[in-house]
Amino acid sequence: MKRPFAYIAGTGHSVPKNVMTNDDITAMGLETNDDWIIERTGIRQRHIAKDGESLASLSAEASRQAMARAGVQPGEIDAIILGTVSPDHLLPATAVEVQHLLGCSRAVAFDIGAACSGFLYGVIVAESLIANGSAETVLVIGAEKLSAIVDWTDRNTCILFADGAGAAIVRRTRTGQKGILSSFMRSDGALAELLWRPAGGGAEPFTPDTFESKRQYVRMAGRDVFKHAVRSMAEATDRALDAAKLTAADIDLLIPHQANIRIIEATAKNAGISMDRVFVNVDRFGNTSAASIPIALSDAIEQGRVKEGMTVLFAAFGAGFTWGSLVVRF
Ligand code: COA
Repeated sequence: MKRPFAYIAGTGHSVPKNVMTNDDITAMGLETNDDWIIERTGIRQRHIAKDGESLASLSAEASRQAMARAGVQPGEIDAIILGTVSPDHLLPATAVEVQHLLGCSRAVAFDIGAACSGFLYGVIVAESLIANGSAETVLVIGAEKLSAIVDWTDRNTCILFADGAGAAIVRRTRTGQKGILSSFMRSDGALAELLWRPAGGGAEPFTPDTFESKRQYVRMAGRDVFKHAVRSMAEATDRALDAAKLTAADIDLLIPHQANIRIIEATAKNAGISMDRVFVNVDRFGNTSAASIPIALSDAIEQGRVKEGMTVLFAAFGAGFTWGSLVVRF
């Protein structure tokens, strides 16, 4: 069996209407400022859900766009895979609610919890389902409502994380001209506590004390996470290029996880890809974890930065730790 088995047939994204600028965060009483946030992260604004916008509603909107652009009807979807760490409910998976909203009655639907690598992991699982004959057409979503799980009094985290959803239709390719050329996935649970939510799961269920100690919210050792992110993203880009038997010169665009402009620049430098061939929208959307890469891909396609025939390298890193990469010809 030889790749490509599957290609990306259509993409879409949806973010909350409400925009929060860095000045809005300062106005909430946090000791931070626009200059510091831009210099250390590259983030100027982010979208934060309000007024009943849920993970499922954002995901459904992004998915409808992706389905329309791919020319796919709800009944043609065989599987829905949703990467998220901020589901609408702890039980059941948000993917089944999205299935219901879209009317994809034939589809099997499940969530993947791989943090910022969730969308890339989802695409690789979708490709596997197609390769083993279980599916022809898969809807892969990356979506987060991180505003619900960050501590809005913690300036280390709340400036970074945001809400949104991105989606892609992954279909069997019959021509062999375009599609997924290579992939790479890794995880390492040894350092899980550098970026985690201590309470709220079975190990430490919610009690009245949880709220006092704020242990239900995201906690992050930012400097350590930064170092691991740079190292892992470098490994991810190298491994996907090697597996595809390509070099940096063959890559038309790098779409990295949009965590921080400094991590993106370090990743591009290591890969030997100049910044004019790197897609950046962290300034407008912040870090939307699993949603970051599909939002960036959909945004890049809308801006004409990804066109038919181009070869795109994707790389992600997230809590877990998890990391991974893909090379896709469009
Ligand atoms: N505004 C102003 N000052 C802040 C601040 C903020 N929002 N957040 C932290 N600081 C302060 C710190 O308290 C510290 O002060 P001190 O020197 O008096 O102790 C100082 O700035 C430097 O803190 P440090 O954590 O070393 O800053 P940094 O350059 O590492 O930037 C992050 C902090 C969080 C932006 C950076 O570490 C980062 O981006 N890490 C990766 C996070 C990430 O991408 N996570 C998701 C991975 S998918």
